[in-house]
Amino acid sequence: MASSSSTVPIYGNYHGYYAKRPSVRDPRLALLPSTIFSGARVLDVGCNEGWVTCEIAQSWGAHKVVGVDIDESLIRAAWRRRRTVWSLQQPAMDEDALRVADTGSRKRRREPSPATPRLQPDYFPLSCEHEFGSLPVPPSDIRGRHVFPHNLSFRTADWVATRIPEDAERYNVVVAFSITKWIHLNGGDEALKAFFQRIFDVLEPGGTFVLEPQAWDTYAKAKRMDERLKENAKTLKIRPDDFESILGLIGFGPAQHFGVTGEGGFRRPVDLCSVEGEAKKDVDLANLLCRSFFIIAFAITFPRQDDMKMTNHPIGFLHTGTFRERATFYSGRRGPHHRVRLARKDATAVI
Ligand SMILES: C[S@@+](CC[C@H](N)C(=O)[O-])C[C@H]1O[C@@H](n2cnc3c(N)ncnc32)[C@H](O)[C@@H]1O
Repeated sequence: MASSSSTVPIYGNYHGYYAKRPSVRDPRLALLPSTIFSGARVLDVGCNEGWVTCEIAQSWGAHKVVGVDIDESLIRAAWRRRRTVWSLQQPAMDEDALRVADTGSRKRRREPSPATPRLQPDYFPLSCEHEFGSLPVPPSDIRGRHVFPHNLSFRTADWVATRIPEDAERYNVVVAFSITKWIHLNGGDEALKAFFQRIFDVLEPGGTFVLEPQAWDTYAKAKRMDERLKENAKTLKIRPDDFESILGLIGFGPAQHFGVTGEGGFRRPVDLCSVEGEAKKDVDLANLLCRSFFIIAFAITFPRQDDMKMTNHPIGFLHTGTFRERATFYSGRRGPHHRVRLARKDATAVI
């Protein structure tokens, strides 16, 4: 395993990697369907300092996320990143908390209510953490085990060669951004095939593999950093253009291409391959109830177009963490009714 003393990043174990790929929101994630991580168990292989992993856990409604990297010093940095992201997040003085305060209830919440609005990331400037230090993370029995930051953990492992405990539970989504070149150059064609096979084996039926492969022409620069990589490169027969057919032979369905993003040498495609079968996600009971509520609200609301035009004052709202839908309750001409507003990350529809 790469130790913190490794000076040559032969696994692509760059420190300060996200200073080279600067953005608050990762543009690769932004290409993906907005519900891909909702209620999902997610593995981020080659998570580096955990920026992408933190975003999935914080902003995409994932149930449980684990980031794994071969370099233990990067994993230490990833845990620090988790704390920073938590410290910059909008404080949880939300509608739910306010309601509890209003009614004077002293009952402690075990799981966050589905009515809790998603808290804004990057609410505080980074200088706050520099100046005042990190904020303490409340225990999971108050905040909820499947809410950021408790839904996120990191592990050090060479994931091609070793299992981690979370693998046994299997995942709904495995993310592998900018890692195939490093596995390929270090372990050859066999390691790459073993990597794809392992991903297939740890995915649930209906699960999804999200891949950002590096182009073949970028291998030349990478192999120059180490004699062993140079020797290994001579033996490689597989090219990134072959990945899709190899994945097909392993059992994945056809790849969906979500476009290309990134600047300069980081301009790469993001592809998605699925394992056949019905997706089973760990959706909380509360969220299920909430989803049912929306279907009923829809049924009640949709035929009553006249009423919707006559909206008066909003009398309340509901927002589900996982599904990103929002319903606004209005009082109307024929008594209280609902106006349902669906707000997704990529589109907003007012009905
Ligand atoms: C170029 S970085 C990509 C980081 C991140 N996935 C992203 O794109 O934002 C590749 C990462 O993969 C890790 N890595 C390489 N081989 C690995 C292996 N066999 N198991 C786990 N991590 C590995 C490296 O340490 C490095 O942090």
